Amino acid sequence: MDIRVDISNSGIDNSEIAGCRERAQAELKKLWTGELHFTGWVKDPYEFTDEMIDELQETAEKIRKDSKYFLVLGVGGSFMGAKAVIDLLDPEGDNNTKVIFAGYNFSGRYLHQIMNTIGDSDFSICVISKSGSTTETLSAYGIFKELMIRKYGPEETARRTYVVTEHKSSFLFDQASAEGARIFDLALDIGGRYSVLTPVGLLPVAVAGIDIRKIMEGARSLASEEAFKGEALDYSIVRNLFYEKGKKIEVFEFFDPYCAYFGEWLKQLFGESEGKDGKGLFPASLMFSRDLHSMGQFLQQGTQCFFETFITVDEPGEDVQIPDSAMKPFAGKTIEKINKCAVNGVADAHTKAGIPVVRISVPEMNANVLGQMLYFFETQCAVSALLSGVDPFNQPGVEAYKKEMRSYIEAL
Ligand code: PA5
Repeated sequence: MDIRVDISNSGIDNSEIAGCRERAQAELKKLWTGELHFTGWVKDPYEFTDEMIDELQETAEKIRKDSKYFLVLGVGGSFMGAKAVIDLLDPEGDNNTKVIFAGYNFSGRYLHQIMNTIGDSDFSICVISKSGSTTETLSAYGIFKELMIRKYGPEETARRTYVVTEHKSSFLFDQASAEGARIFDLALDIGGRYSVLTPVGLLPVAVAGIDIRKIMEGARSLASEEAFKGEALDYSIVRNLFYEKGKKIEVFEFFDPYCAYFGEWLKQLFGESEGKDGKGLFPASLMFSRDLHSMGQFLQQGTQCFFETFITVDEPGEDVQIPDSAMKPFAGKTIEKINKCAVNGVADAHTKAGIPVVRISVPEMNANVLGQMLYFFETQCAVSALLSGVDPFNQPGVEAYKKEMRSYIEAL
């Protein structure tokens, strides 16, 4: 495993952690035995065959040939993973087809902006919704489908429409089937926030020109009970021990702006999996060094209701030298060397103030490592939720707002 977890500054006694390992292993086992619902993601990295990867890559190739923009419509688990991966591995959109995400808000301004961006250019649409009925996604789909029909006519619109949903009757599935759009199945036993390593995440990522085979190889290398033996679940254990000792917030901290959506993905994964039955750590994320000049004050001296989880990459992809003419003492050094000083400086300052810090790091960022990270956090999150006694795979609380919102919409 390329992921290292350092809990030496967590302030939690090693013997206390060791005392929880047997229980964590028992919870991990439950993910593999099939006794829990929605655990299809656990075996997905090797059940998702090379032929299925080829099929997605061929589809992506076709989309890249005929479209300048690939408009991906989805919300929550139906878009965040793909956006996190693209931002980390292809932030500048190096290939000719630009992937644009929409259908995750109700902003008319945002949709107008996308229409302006697309203009007269060729585009394809991907509608991603497990339930096939989500308001954000389906309302955006209605708008862009009309636009497409005006531009291309119904037949070409169907040819340019890709749908990822469950293979069962829903508004989206029924309409896409009737119109002949290309449908990729999302397995019935994989929930939205655990679906990044399925066509939900992989199709947009493949269109962005990223090697999805390497992502799956990374995930596959961790997809076994063996990979999480011994100390490998200590992160889940430590999170639960912090919670039991009174911490209420886990702050994920990044030192690279391209990790912002990875932070959003983590917040959804942990927040929706653990926040129920009146329990759960509230997941927050901060971007350093930017937020050291704002929230850094709170962290250092504010209410101590949180612990910190640094997520860092050892080897930067690119670096820039600061000229000798710049101010001392940073003149002549590189930006990424200074970034390392920020990581170590923050860790020291916070540890000295008694703030618990967990450090998770990878040697470098690439498709294989990111595949490992996605699977690693999914597993840690599921085990962590099970340790705290909640079902990681349901989200009954999300339904409440949908019901209330729908009654307002129907009254319009
Ligand atoms: O993780 C989840 O289950 C949710 O965040 C869903 O992904 C989100 O609500 C979107 O649902 P759907 O894919 O059914 O449109």
